[in-house]
Amino acid sequence: NNLDTLYRQVIMDHYKNPRNRGVVEGESVSVDMNNPTCGDRIRLQLKVEDDIVKDAKFEGEGCSISMSSASMMTQAVKGKKIEDALEMSQLFSDMMLGKELKTDLDLGDIEALQGVSKFPARIKCATLAWKAMERGVKEEN
Ligand code: FES
Ligand code: FES
Repeated sequence: NNLDTLYRQVIMDHYKNPRNRGVVEGESVSVDMNNPTCGDRIRLQLKVEDDIVKDAKFEGEGCSISMSSASMMTQAVKGKKIEDALEMSQLFSDMMLGKELKTDLDLGDIEALQGVSKFPARIKCATLAWKAMERGVKEEN
């Protein structure tokens, strides 16, 4: 349907024109994480100050789902309080279980990946960047 088509376009746009690709200058934390099912890796760097994610950038290679998710994630958490970023990660996990999202947080484009819940083998691709973000802010604290 039309929503699926729109979501597919959003995913491909993030894949082809990734937001926040690169390294953060003066980063507070750098996390390397891989998807054990395929070996793809990302490195996520965060700058956290006053409990706020001031900057987030990623590097690495992976499938379109993992790379677009990393792009969407960095866009979504930038400028957010740590607790809100962690809540978004929980919401993303819920979405991967096929749950409907109810929140006042600005989720950016991350809902475009909700269709991944129908493909269990790809859920780890979609959650890779979020797991890295969670580990990063926990290390930082
Ligand atoms: Fe198979 Fe990601 S691990 S599609
Ligand atoms: Fe490796 Fe998707 S196939 S992260």
